[in-house]
Amino acid sequence: MHAALELIGEDLKNVELQFRQDLQSDVPLIRKVGEYVLSSGGKRIRPALLLLSAKLCGYAGDRHIPLASVIEFIHTATLLHDDVVDNANLRRGLASANTLWGNEASVLVGDFLFSKSFSLMVAAGNLDILRVLSGATTMIAEGEVLQLLCTSDLDMTEPRYIEVVRNKTAVLLSAACQAGAILGSASPEQETALSEYGMDLGVAFQLMDDILDYVADEDEFGKSIGHDLEEGKITLPLIHTLLNCSQEEREQIADVIEKEILEQQDFQNVISLVHRYGGIEYTVSAAHAYVDRSKAALTRFPDSPGKHALLELADYVLTRAK
Ligand code: IPE
Ligand code: IPE
Ligand code: MG
Ligand code: MG
Repeated sequence: MHAALELIGEDLKNVELQFRQDLQSDVPLIRKVGEYVLSSGGKRIRPALLLLSAKLCGYAGDRHIPLASVIEFIHTATLLHDDVVDNANLRRGLASANTLWGNEASVLVGDFLFSKSFSLMVAAGNLDILRVLSGATTMIAEGEVLQLLCTSDLDMTEPRYIEVVRNKTAVLLSAACQAGAILGSASPEQETALSEYGMDLGVAFQLMDDILDYVADEDEFGKSIGHDLEEGKITLPLIHTLLNCSQEEREQIADVIEKEILEQQDFQNVISLVHRYGGIEYTVSAAHAYVDRSKAALTRFPDSPGKHALLELADYVLTRAK
């Protein structure tokens, strides 16, 4: 991410200031929860994508900062809701907001962030960007509901899973890139190319997240390992394993998925099956293919520092540990 940070480091600092300002509310709990999630860090990938895409398209104004803040607002709202739905206790290496303040507060502050995002988008005054970002939030909600419907479904297929991933995760990365393109008055072809770059990158990003849920170092990852399995989320490493294992092993996995609480030994048993059937390698190579495709989408852009940074960011997705 070196090139990216060099290019947009100053802008990202301004996004943090903007984000803090946009969080202001007369309701103390909103400020408190908002400050907590804001200062807990986060990689700021989505704002970075918007800023770099705008730069790539030659944007030189100052509306990129509030819009990058909006993208992070939307992302933060989805995380607050997602951790309630997923029963997650750990986020960014800290207790999740639902653990500290309860589900009610998390859902309601998430709602505040969503609603505020829309006010901020309207204030930004660009109908095309509003269309792209509001379309993305609708798709995220659809993705999360689709995923809910697929809970513990051992017959989950790879195409169906990728469809969930495009909706719940990739669309926001794609929208960030597209919004940057619109800001920079890109041609329709360039706008589509950036949107495709973001979509493929977003799929790779989620696939790596799914792998990390099996193999990461918990301290570094900042989220609980084995949690997808515990919650009955059948992600690509497990889909591949289920497709290749014996009937007996499939039943073993089904038993673990049905359990309320995941014992360490259960997780070890499933992870050894995932390793035996190459579920991690399979998913890594799928993520590589998506990253290659995302980079290929940028070929229509001439070389520039912005393009270099976006290509580097695509590679970073494959090596991230958190
Ligand atoms: C977490 O996104 C949700 C997923 C799509 C996997 P990030 O990994 O970008 O979360 P932060 O903002 O850096 O914590
Ligand atoms: C992320 O899915 C999707 C959204 C936050 C909308 P996950 O449930 O896999 O993300 P983490 O692992 O909780 O960050
Ligand atoms: Mg989650
Ligand atoms: Mg995850």
